[in-house]
Amino acid sequence: MLKPFTDQSPLQPQAPGWDDSLGFRYQELDAFWLARWSEKTGWEPGQLYEHQGATLELSLGANVFHYGQAVFEGLKARRTREGKIVLFRPVDNARRMRASAARLLMPAPSVSTFLEAVKTTVRVNARWVPGYGKGSLYIRPVIIGSGPVLGVAPASEYLFFVFVCPVGQYMGGDRVIVLTSAHRAAPYGTGAAKTAGNYAASLLPQRMAKEKHYVDALYLDAREDRYIEELSGANFFAVLHDGTLITPALGSILPGITRASVITVASELFGWPVVERKVSIDEVLSHAVEAFYVGTAAVLAPITVINYQGVDHPIGTGEPGPRARMLRQALEEIQLQERPDLWDWVVEL
Ligand code: COI
Repeated sequence: MLKPFTDQSPLQPQAPGWDDSLGFRYQELDAFWLARWSEKTGWEPGQLYEHQGATLELSLGANVFHYGQAVFEGLKARRTREGKIVLFRPVDNARRMRASAARLLMPAPSVSTFLEAVKTTVRVNARWVPGYGKGSLYIRPVIIGSGPVLGVAPASEYLFFVFVCPVGQYMGGDRVIVLTSAHRAAPYGTGAAKTAGNYAASLLPQRMAKEKHYVDALYLDAREDRYIEELSGANFFAVLHDGTLITPALGSILPGITRASVITVASELFGWPVVERKVSIDEVLSHAVEAFYVGTAAVLAPITVINYQGVDHPIGTGEPGPRARMLRQALEEIQLQERPDLWDWVVEL
């Protein structure tokens, strides 16, 4: 059931400390945004609906249930020390969503509609942006094929919706495992699209990794089973002896916005050499002095151990490294307007 959000009444104050120990989970807040697309009308103007108790009514034949037309994004609103609410590179999320949708033959909102939906949803839920330093408001834009199909074909109707949840840390471990029986994506497949199916396919490897006490699976390429691709929900970096940062080249991996930001910060701010190329597991195990993973949800976290072919390999000293720490700090300071934003990445609400 959907009820238009018309609430003009003063919002309830929050209990002090509500944001002291945030996890990473779905919560219903005040309002979310939804817009419909049909072949006849194109995108109709979106609007806000009440988030509490909100559910969607979909045909049993909705494409998303059968053939997986679903793409999504993830970005964060943060509260600065001065109390402003800021977004990080939302235009890049809008563009990536359009690219993901195009791969799955889905319509996507324009960049400006995406931004309007995201900003409006954050504004109306502004009281749920955690206090400075306590977490962030995770923003989840989604497009699904809602029109019914039976044969394999694109839907004739779509929904675009945006909801938000206050979150703390995601993942948070530093040991990963290369599983012998799992690839994430194949060349020319959908690995570069942020589509639900990629994440559904990662659930079993993730479970297997966790059962062995690793934070996540680290995937190798599907062609040679040799080159590192990424984790289930984060991109991979390593640092070589000479200080060069290496990261798997784009192709079948997600073109991460944090990944792109780390490349820019490392090369333009710190002057470190950064190379996007094939990164073999052997090279990382024998030559890396540091490794780390990055993503919107995960931010940037060190990898101290990679399990490969049943053996735990410490990376470098086996302790979190200084370059990962410097990059994370610089990134967070830029995101919170505590360091010059040389690239106009931060958008104030
Ligand atoms: C993100 O980092 O925003 C993602 O979408 C990853 C997701 C698995 C939580």
